[in-house]
Amino acid sequence: MELLSLLTLLLLAIASNEACQVQSSSSETTDWWQTAQFYQIYPRSFKDSDGDGIGDLNGITSKLEYLKDLGVTAAWLSPIFKSPMVDFGYDISDFFDIQPEYGTLKDFRALIKRAKELDLKIVLDFVPNHSSNESEWFQKSVKREKGYEDYYVWHDGKVNSTTGKREPPTNWLQYFRGSAWEWNDQRQQYYLHQFAVQQPDLNYRNPLVVEQMKRVLRYWLNEGVSGFRCDALPPLFEVLPDGDGQFPDEVVSGSTEDEEDRDYLTTTYIENQPETIDMVYQWRTVLDDHKRIYGGNSSVLLIETYSPAWFTMQFYGNRSTEGAHLPFNFNLITVMEQKGISASNVQEAIDLWLKNMPAGRTPNWVLGNHDKRRAASRYGKEHIDGMNMLVMILPGVSVTYQGEEIGMTDGEISWEDTVDPWGCNSNPDIYEQYTRDPERTPFQWTGGTNAGFTNGSTTWLPLAADYETINVEKELSDGVSHLKIYKQLVALRRSSKTLQNGSTKYQTLSEDIFVVQRSLTKSATIVLVINFGSVAKIVDLSQFDKNRTESLLLLIGSIDSTKKKGTRYDPKSLSLDPSEALVLTSE
Ligand code: NOJ
Ligand code: MG
Repeated sequence: MELLSLLTLLLLAIASNEACQVQSSSSETTDWWQTAQFYQIYPRSFKDSDGDGIGDLNGITSKLEYLKDLGVTAAWLSPIFKSPMVDFGYDISDFFDIQPEYGTLKDFRALIKRAKELDLKIVLDFVPNHSSNESEWFQKSVKREKGYEDYYVWHDGKVNSTTGKREPPTNWLQYFRGSAWEWNDQRQQYYLHQFAVQQPDLNYRNPLVVEQMKRVLRYWLNEGVSGFRCDALPPLFEVLPDGDGQFPDEVVSGSTEDEEDRDYLTTTYIENQPETIDMVYQWRTVLDDHKRIYGGNSSVLLIETYSPAWFTMQFYGNRSTEGAHLPFNFNLITVMEQKGISASNVQEAIDLWLKNMPAGRTPNWVLGNHDKRRAASRYGKEHIDGMNMLVMILPGVSVTYQGEEIGMTDGEISWEDTVDPWGCNSNPDIYEQYTRDPERTPFQWTGGTNAGFTNGSTTWLPLAADYETINVEKELSDGVSHLKIYKQLVALRRSSKTLQNGSTKYQTLSEDIFVVQRSLTKSATIVLVINFGSVAKIVDLSQFDKNRTESLLLLIGSIDSTKKKGTRYDPKSLSLDPSEALVLTSE
């Protein structure tokens, strides 16, 4: 090897072992969302109030005190709008009404009222990319009714010169397997659907659609919501067609052999278009205008995108324009999905966000959602406390998916019981790769009948097997539990100025040990240490920070930790059991 490349390697090795440091964003007063803990509710699986085995709004209202007790700031609700439920609410037939199974507008108002009394904020899911094919807009568009002709992306397709047969306009694939084009007999054209056949894509090149969707935002803001989680942003716009009205084909990506899988092709023309970023800036204006006119707290935009950093970071806005408050940071999910759990992979996930985030913006940390396997199953049950600690100790905003606070694990759902369209569009041999049912099983309130989720005799999805040992009732009465650890973390975050405003330093100390330190002048320093390995280790924290020589007080330990809260430990020889995670303070 050349001397130069050896030197470069050496420098790189040194650099990667150095601690990373991030200063606190600013000393200006922070708005509520900048230090918030968001909690995602999947309404269908949270709490059933009427015995039909399906969660509902009154169920959520009855459990708002649970959220208050957890200490979280805000709940974001997966869609509650009228829907044929092909994609469990992500196929909306009326954006201005509530799904009858979930309740009524009156029930929704009662939910908002109770949340306000408890000082909890409610954020709704905004699904801009598509509607249900049962929506009035689509029905009218099929009939080419005036004003609705171009509400969706319609195309004649093309004629195959050899067979003479009509074919879809392009080879584009939908997320849920198979072609993204569907022929409509009545209109005699194809329509685009980046998700299921029953989810036609709205046409954002039509100003009427843009205005209609802004009406949706204003309507729910007027009902008192505190913002929106915006669904599926990458496919909002597709590339413009050429002069002949033709769209380009995508090329084979080489990442899978399965021709039905969306990953079979690139998504150059059907995702991450610049117009999408601008649309989000326009929605931000809708929110800010609403506040200017009606007063009240800021409402927020949370953006769902699994795009690369160069695209994702643009959502935040630029020097002249405000964008989304928080584009979701899924790196702790995606990096580890690809590479497995380890201290250095955790560090890579954190770096990927903090080193790409524009200055002055607020970071956020998401552990899971209704589309990804449960955190305890993905990271391993032994790491759930450590990961909950991580998202609560890192700077900015944390996002918890319902059940992560008690360590819920995936349900086992047979092919016969599978209901998720992604799973159903595959086959019995491969459905487990695609189905999202396992992470959507009913919330585990008790160890009793149907986990206390419903008084009825059935549940819309089977319960996860471990509900008798993993449930709220038990974890509240046990001396130590995931739930109690979670609550202590939220309380610490809410009370600690250091966690809210302090600077951040983090490092992979050895192969398995990850350390995060938060510091603020005149406030106690907080240190998180996690052993991601399966052997015990002795850690010298002065290696990480040469000033870290005074003893540290233990605030919170992971569930199997044998260390005593309130005891002081020597940072120069801190022993850590396998998977042990500790939150300590200099106080
Ligand atoms: C993302 C949502 O999280 C997912 O559940 C849904 O299937 C798609 N978007 C389509 O709306
Ligand atoms: Mg119900």
